[in-house]
Amino acid sequence: MSTQKTEIARRRTFGIVAHPDAGKTTLTEKLLLFGGAIQVAGAVKSNKIKKSTTSDFMEIERQRGISVATSVMAFDYDDKKINILDTPGHKDFAEDTYRTLTAVDSVIVVIDVAKGVEEQTEKLVEVCRMRKTPIIVFVNKMDRPGKESFDLLDEIEQKLQLPCTPLSWPVGMGDRFQGVYNIFEQRLVLFRPDNKQGRPEETIEFTDLEDPDLDKLIGKAAAAELRAETTMIKEIYPDFDRNDYLQQVISPVFFGSAVNNFGVKELLDCFVRIAPEPRPRAAEERAVQPNEDNFSGFVFKIHANMDPRHRDRIAFLRICSGTFERNTNYLHVRQNRKMKFANPTSFMADRKEVIDEAYAGDVVGLYDSGNFKIGDTLTAGEELHFKGIPSFSPEQFRRVYNGDPLKSKQLAKGLDQLMDEGVAQLFTREVDNAQIIGTVGALQFDVIQYRLEHEYGATVQYEGISLHKALWVTAKDPAALQAFRERRRQHIAQDKEGRLVYLADSAWTLQMAKDNHPEIEFHATSEF
Ligand code: G4P
Repeated sequence: MSTQKTEIARRRTFGIVAHPDAGKTTLTEKLLLFGGAIQVAGAVKSNKIKKSTTSDFMEIERQRGISVATSVMAFDYDDKKINILDTPGHKDFAEDTYRTLTAVDSVIVVIDVAKGVEEQTEKLVEVCRMRKTPIIVFVNKMDRPGKESFDLLDEIEQKLQLPCTPLSWPVGMGDRFQGVYNIFEQRLVLFRPDNKQGRPEETIEFTDLEDPDLDKLIGKAAAAELRAETTMIKEIYPDFDRNDYLQQVISPVFFGSAVNNFGVKELLDCFVRIAPEPRPRAAEERAVQPNEDNFSGFVFKIHANMDPRHRDRIAFLRICSGTFERNTNYLHVRQNRKMKFANPTSFMADRKEVIDEAYAGDVVGLYDSGNFKIGDTLTAGEELHFKGIPSFSPEQFRRVYNGDPLKSKQLAKGLDQLMDEGVAQLFTREVDNAQIIGTVGALQFDVIQYRLEHEYGATVQYEGISLHKALWVTAKDPAALQAFRERRRQHIAQDKEGRLVYLADSAWTLQMAKDNHPEIEFHATSEF
């Protein structure tokens, strides 16, 4: 096999999604420890915004710093190159996470055994379902009392609409947690609460659970329960089939305790065996296969430099096909011009380094002085536009005013760049040219104000504006769209790309507009 083919075949690029506090950071850290990417526990900082400090801007900066550092964490394990893409759990940054999910090939969902399926997890899994991303579930915190395992699986199947099949099964939980039985490999892995550094776990073959040794090992009652439960599992759940997983027909479930480093190696060992290689990506023009000769990729995330004196940013590019090479001319499709990169960067958990080449499945960081925006495509020359990097209909709105007439240029530039980064969306109302910022979460308004001031020296003032939703509108007949636009002038705005957006005051006016104009289509995402 050629180098390119071998390299691509060993890439596994995935994201961990979870509701805040379920244990995403802890699990990430343990995976990195196994990969030898970090040496000590505590090296991965949580990118969580602590509830008590949401109004504290140092907290936002701290979070930003961490999320640059943890955007991609790569390590080698068992001949595979694993790329973990970080996904913020905070709901105000959900859009960031949605976009990151366009750049992964699979996902691990972490669920807290006591809390079960939480709101943020539901939303994120919905995005994965839409994209048919294969999902593995890890039920965490088994050392704590929580929901009964069968009930939890029911909840996963119902709330997440994910048919699942357990590949491991817990023996007890909380104080009585003794370990997990690996159904797939038919062995019992014993839990030792003092084994946080991940010494090899004590595992005992049990191809036959009727073996009386099981009673001696975990006690009669626990053994009887395990026997009964594994029999039930066989009756209720389908056998695991990798193809079903790859097509998101079924999701395997694991149980463990991330903080105790228990069940994590099992998860990782199974992950490297079953998780997909880089998958083909749909461009508007055609499907792009990872192993094509020519390079292509798209920008899914942009991060401003942490140092306000240097306005350059890092654009994160997911490579979709071929080999990316340093100092090579590539086509920036939207701008229709050639660019080359002297310092493309890869991220290795605790350090970054300049790389000479990277392969489909990898993510590279490109230093950017304002040329990129989210969704941009780079290729070896072909005109390609990758699909599936949506903007979502915002739910919070403020009208913006310039707070300092001498700095209007700075304000315009700052707003422009922050919108390119995907922090929020800017709409211009047609009747009065009012500028309206729409976001998914309220925290973004503080971030924008703070960053405009610190990075661009501009002052923005907000005014509350009562809007329910902003939805993109289209119609098959351009004349119908034009007629709608004129009739509803007060409610029409343009987004940054000049697409028409309907600003609805309330759910009621929106429904009226839909009822009265069946010829118009209303879209909740920009991907139509
Ligand atoms: P997140 O990134 O998903 O938001 O969660 P994170 O890993 O930060 O974990 C949230 C809390 O849950 C942390 O405690 C962490 O130690 C704890 N935790 C993670 N895995 C387990 C587990 O298997 N069992 C138990 N009992 N706890 C677990 P914290 O008190 O918020 O922070 P810390 O001070 O302990 O770091």
